[in-house]
Amino acid sequence: MVEEHFFADRDKLIQTLAARCEAQLLHAIDQRGKASLLVSGGSTPAPLYQELSHRTLDWSRVGVGLVDERWVNADHSASNERFIREHLLFNKARDAAFYPMKQNGISAQAAAADVAELYQSKLSWPADLVILGMGADGHTASLFPRAEGLEQGLNPDNPSVCCAINAIRSPVTGEYTERLSLTYATLCRAKELVLLITGSEKLAVYQAAKTWQNTIDDCPIAALLTDAKVTVSVFWAP
Ligand code: 6PG
Repeated sequence: MVEEHFFADRDKLIQTLAARCEAQLLHAIDQRGKASLLVSGGSTPAPLYQELSHRTLDWSRVGVGLVDERWVNADHSASNERFIREHLLFNKARDAAFYPMKQNGISAQAAAADVAELYQSKLSWPADLVILGMGADGHTASLFPRAEGLEQGLNPDNPSVCCAINAIRSPVTGEYTERLSLTYATLCRAKELVLLITGSEKLAVYQAAKTWQNTIDDCPIAALLTDAKVTVSVFWAP
C-alpha cells in the first residue's frame, strides 16, 4: 500500500523528506543504539542526500548500505558507491560506516553471497530506512523488467539479501546491465520504505504501477506498490 506525499516544488519535498529521514534514524538510534540506512543511486536522490549530510545526528551510529549497484568500479562515473560518497558521505554524515557492494575482479553473481554476508553482519536488520528510486521502465533497485535474475529477485520467499541481475539493455539501463540488487523480500522488511520520484513522466508510471493488473515482471515496482503488507511512503514533486 502507498502513503503519498506530493509537493508543489522539489525544495519543499527535499526539506520535508530529509526531516523525516533524520527523525527515523534518530528514532532507531534511540531505540537500539544504531541505525541502518539503505540508499539507491541514480541521480534523483542527490539533493536529499546532500541535505541529509548536514543533519546533526550521531552518524557514527549509522550503517549505510546500497540498495543496488551497477557492476562498475568504484571510481567509475556510473558507480552508485561513488554517487553516495559524493552526495551523502561528507559534512556530518562523513562519520557513517559505509558498506559498498562492488567487488573487483569477480562478477555480481560471484559476489552476491559475500555482499549478503557483509550486509547481514555489519548492518542492523530489519533496515530502519530504505530510499528507493524508480525508472521510467518501472524498475526499482536493480529489479529491471524481464531481467535475468528477476524471478528470484521478486520472490517474496527468497531468503537471500541480494541477487545478481542481468538487465535487458535499454535507454534506462544504458550499458550497465550487470547489477547487484537487494531482493524484494529484503526491501519489504524495512521499517520505513521511501520511494522518491520527480517529474510528470515518472508520476504517470507510478500511477499506472500502483493499480497494476498485468504481468509483474513487466513493472517490478508494482510488486511493492500493490503489496497490502508493505507500506511505501511515496514522495513526489514536479
Ligand atoms: C540505479 C538506482 C536505480 C534508481 C532508478 C532511478 O542504480 O540506477 O539505484 O534504482 O533509483 O534508476 O534513477 P534516477 O533517480 O536517476 O532516475
